[in-house]
Amino acid sequence: MSHLSPLLKQATGVLAAKGEGAYLYDNQGKQFLDFTSGIGVTCTGHCHPKVVEAAQKQVATLVHAQYTTVMHQPLLDLSDKLAELAPGPMDSVAFSNAGSEAVEMAMRLARHATKRANIIAFNGGFHGRTMAAASMTTSTAKIRTGFHPMMAGVVISPFPHLYRYGWDEEEATRFCLQELDNIFLTQSAPEDTAAMIVEPVQGEFGYYPATKGFMQGLRERCDQHGILLICDEIQAGFGRTGKFWSHEQFDVMPDIITTAKGLASGFPISAIAASESLMSKGLPGSQGGTYGANAVACAAALANIEVIESEGLVENAKARGETLWNRLIELKDKHAIIDDIRGMGLMLGMEIVDGDGHPDGGKADALAKAAEAEGLLLLRCGTHGQIVRWLPPLIVSDEQIQAGVDKFAKALANAG
Ligand SMILES: Cc1ncc(COP(=O)(O)O)c(C=O)c1O
Repeated sequence: MSHLSPLLKQATGVLAAKGEGAYLYDNQGKQFLDFTSGIGVTCTGHCHPKVVEAAQKQVATLVHAQYTTVMHQPLLDLSDKLAELAPGPMDSVAFSNAGSEAVEMAMRLARHATKRANIIAFNGGFHGRTMAAASMTTSTAKIRTGFHPMMAGVVISPFPHLYRYGWDEEEATRFCLQELDNIFLTQSAPEDTAAMIVEPVQGEFGYYPATKGFMQGLRERCDQHGILLICDEIQAGFGRTGKFWSHEQFDVMPDIITTAKGLASGFPISAIAASESLMSKGLPGSQGGTYGANAVACAAALANIEVIESEGLVENAKARGETLWNRLIELKDKHAIIDDIRGMGLMLGMEIVDGDGHPDGGKADALAKAAEAEGLLLLRCGTHGQIVRWLPPLIVSDEQIQAGVDKFAKALANAG
């Protein structure tokens, strides 16, 4: 440990030795209910036997079939599968390794296809740590502090944070769309704007779902001005909100989607999807990379998707999410330090406040640590680290949801 960069901070004190389903085990064999899912990654749980089997088989057959040198079958099969899963006309898929890379790939495509430079991103959005992705990220100054100047050509517009503004859906939607229209008049004229990038359910900033009116307002403006709508599905996609893609919650059709985390339950792979006609407007050679679409990751992703479909995990996320929501609301009603519960499906955030109603990151930290002592792993997010986030794997059972909330209730009794 002493040689690991001190800049890499861990949210828990666990030295993970083994993972199985919804559980992680430390090097002493202590069991933890893992409601972090490795930041929303292990959607079929840790080491799902079918995913493990597919990866093991592929490891023994072909590991690195560099995808701009040769083709390989798992790559072709996964492209077909993703094209089938991506809604509407998005039938063309390109791969990379991390979420940030997918975001950058989407941005490059948008700039090439429209021959325009600017990107509108939304306040509180998280799109990654690489330079372009960080330039579109405003979930916390930590991603930007000390790295300025950011990439030019990014303009930030308000997102309907109902809780933060203290507004209802209609008021927040109206304000955000009005400010967006003002951006066209003041900072980025439509003819300079290539794309808008949005998380339909914001993750890192604090589990804020957009409103239907806001998402549809973005679509209308994109259609009106020939701007591309990019939905960043990296955290909220792959069933997490109770629909396969989170943008489906708002009845909008994006032009490009980015995906990563839930795609292979832990194998590093990311992708974008767009219509073939849009994809072919990009510059040849602008997509690629040494490790993209690694054969083992592709084989694991295919098995992972097979499990999501055959075990009905999207439906499970919806049903278990409802139970979790109801139990968290019960806790909110009993504890004044819980000021809000929000989110969708198995992506719920719990806002922790002090006696004056201000965000209380210290208390949220104490609660997460007390939960860890009870054998429950939870992450936090938000500008003050004040939001306890609930991200169980999509395979979670009703008993595990109940057990997790019971453990958190004990943590509240000990540290609340
Ligand atoms: C919505 C969203 N976009 C992009 C990213 C960046 O992904 P990565 O950390 O794999 O680069 C994340 C990671 O948390 C994310 O939640």
